[in-house]
Amino acid sequence: MTFEEAKQRIAELSKTIHYHNYQYYMLDNPSIEDYDFDMLLNELIALEKQFPDLILPDSPTQRVGGNVTKQFQQVAHKHQMLSLGNTYSQGELNEFFSRTANLLQTSDIEYVCELKYDGVAISLIYIDGILKQAVTRGNGMIGDEVTTNVKTIKTIPLRLHGNYPKELEVRGEIIMPHESFNTLNKEREDIGETKFANPRNAASGSLKLQHSAEVAKRGLEFFLYYVYDDSNAYQNHFQSIIKMKEYGFKVNPFIKTCTSPSEVFEFINYWDKQRANLPFDIDGVVIKVNRYDYQYQLGATNKNPRWAIAYKFKAERVLTQLLSVDYQVGRTGIVTPVANLEPIFLAGTTVKRATMNNADFIKEMDIHQNDFVYIEKGGEIIPKIVAVEKKMRKTNSLPIQFISTCPDCGATLIRNEGEAGVFCPNVNLCPTQIKGKLLHFISRKAMNIEGLGEEKINLLYEKGLLQNISDFYKLTYNQLFGLNKTFSSTDKDLDKSISFKEKTTENLLLAIEKSKNVEFERVLFAIGIRFVGEVSAKKIARHYGSIEALMTTTMEELLSIEDVGDKVAQSIITYLQDKNNIDIITQLKHFGLQFSCVSNSEKLLSNKLKGMNFVVSGTFSSPQRRKEIEEMIELHGGKNVSSVNKKLSFIVAGNNMGPAKLEKAQQIGIPIISEQEFLEMINSPLEK
Ligand code: IVH
Repeated sequence: MTFEEAKQRIAELSKTIHYHNYQYYMLDNPSIEDYDFDMLLNELIALEKQFPDLILPDSPTQRVGGNVTKQFQQVAHKHQMLSLGNTYSQGELNEFFSRTANLLQTSDIEYVCELKYDGVAISLIYIDGILKQAVTRGNGMIGDEVTTNVKTIKTIPLRLHGNYPKELEVRGEIIMPHESFNTLNKEREDIGETKFANPRNAASGSLKLQHSAEVAKRGLEFFLYYVYDDSNAYQNHFQSIIKMKEYGFKVNPFIKTCTSPSEVFEFINYWDKQRANLPFDIDGVVIKVNRYDYQYQLGATNKNPRWAIAYKFKAERVLTQLLSVDYQVGRTGIVTPVANLEPIFLAGTTVKRATMNNADFIKEMDIHQNDFVYIEKGGEIIPKIVAVEKKMRKTNSLPIQFISTCPDCGATLIRNEGEAGVFCPNVNLCPTQIKGKLLHFISRKAMNIEGLGEEKINLLYEKGLLQNISDFYKLTYNQLFGLNKTFSSTDKDLDKSISFKEKTTENLLLAIEKSKNVEFERVLFAIGIRFVGEVSAKKIARHYGSIEALMTTTMEELLSIEDVGDKVAQSIITYLQDKNNIDIITQLKHFGLQFSCVSNSEKLLSNKLKGMNFVVSGTFSSPQRRKEIEEMIELHGGKNVSSVNKKLSFIVAGNNMGPAKLEKAQQIGIPIISEQEFLEMINSPLEK
């Protein structure tokens, strides 16, 4: 390569890598596979080595990572958060072993092998045994302080046990297990929200949520992988990790000391196969020199420690042919394309279908009919298409055209500006949407009407007995009793039938009757307003207290509610402007469903805390205790709020109250009371 050619290629590579770094670090929206990104970076590193005069002052090789997002307070790391050098080849790993042996002038080196968790790096600072700060990696020097959110992760101790040092920094990875990831994406799909691309993005997005209560529901987990303890209590890395067990950390069992490179390769080969059975994503194995004195001796380059390396697995991908595309309509009308594939074996199962996300995905990937596509499995239940093999494309094959009409009802599909999803606007008549809404209405987190499943709903819909959610309350014994249907299947033994016998019918009617007691916040979730999830429904219900108040609301008022953004607010307004929806609500009200919060005055034990706002902060004897205190505040007429500002009346503080909250409260002079003082307050002999 000539000097001029190298100059041009370096400029090109820097630009591309900057772009992908931005997508990855700033937008949490990776636009390239890890492997391909690493290949670009390696090419740039090699070129810069060959032509050092061409290194740009802002070359992506000169810095550790991306920028820091502004939302959270920024904190400098005491020890820089380095990243790891990585390799995909066993040959390069052997080079690492010989380099290390050379530098240390011995081949008697013990290595520690660990899994390379695919999540978000975090630094946890404990002072006097108390978790004081949790900071993301950021650019390696400065990260975002996300302590409040991190505190919700159950495997992270808030207070250390045993004989802990005065100061301790623990580093590790916050990950989202597959189960939590799939539940979260299912919920998001259900309310018409964009799904997360993979568990890493979901974990990272969760840590940046504004409200920690939301984070708590995300099912995040923590795996620790490094300890900084200035007291020099241990001689090596392995000991330090094991010691953490005594301090109350859950130390994972996937860690092994190896005395030779061949043992390391054994570990790698084992996990390359076994990772398919793990309940979370890993993208490789990390190999670390065990002895601390060796680690210090080896030191670090400006980016990576010389005593550790990541061996990355190539994601298992297979090539298969796209046969056709199905379009599925969700209950909120969102149309999702799903690829039907020539069946192929991948990571333990035969794959026949793959997600294609949305119209943009098909366009960006430039997928044509009957293309050969690469598929990979991540945390998702269905694998995804990750690339197209364009060399194998037939010359006359046409690009896949996203459908323009609903596959179910024929309505012209719509796409709102700024949204990735295409949806069917025929909300009241599209059969799939109707059935989806009926199913959502009876689901456990909504009205929890037991005794009905998808098949029964379909049958009742086909019989004309259920056209909208208010029809549940019109069903009679005579209409239901005797209804039955058999579903034929290619496998005779699997034929299924449903029938409404005496007991089934009675139980169903009873369950429907019982649902009339379901509280307003769940009814509001059950009626199925797009983008309104379980949590936002609760907040909206509590804010307005009744459907009447909600019906006369404005965008401004909706937007003043925690967690309600433009999309949710607009969707509620649109829903409540539809006459059909108003009719359904009127009917449901007529049948006796709860459309107002059980009025506080009916539930109130006293008015002692009327007009007072409380924040309950810190840890109490149990998580339930904290909930009980919050309930008591409401039962005595007070209000629970989340932020510390001048409108706050008291903070009820347990142990380990957040330092930021404490400082702010002291600054603006909010009284901080103990649980005992709070109890005295509500038990004082004031008038009821
Ligand atoms: S050690 C100074 N161990 O991989 C060494 N890192 O590419 C610090 N990671 O930023 C890292 N599992 O977020 C280490 N067992 C493990 C890991 C691990 C995942 C992540 C970590 C780091 C990145 C480096």
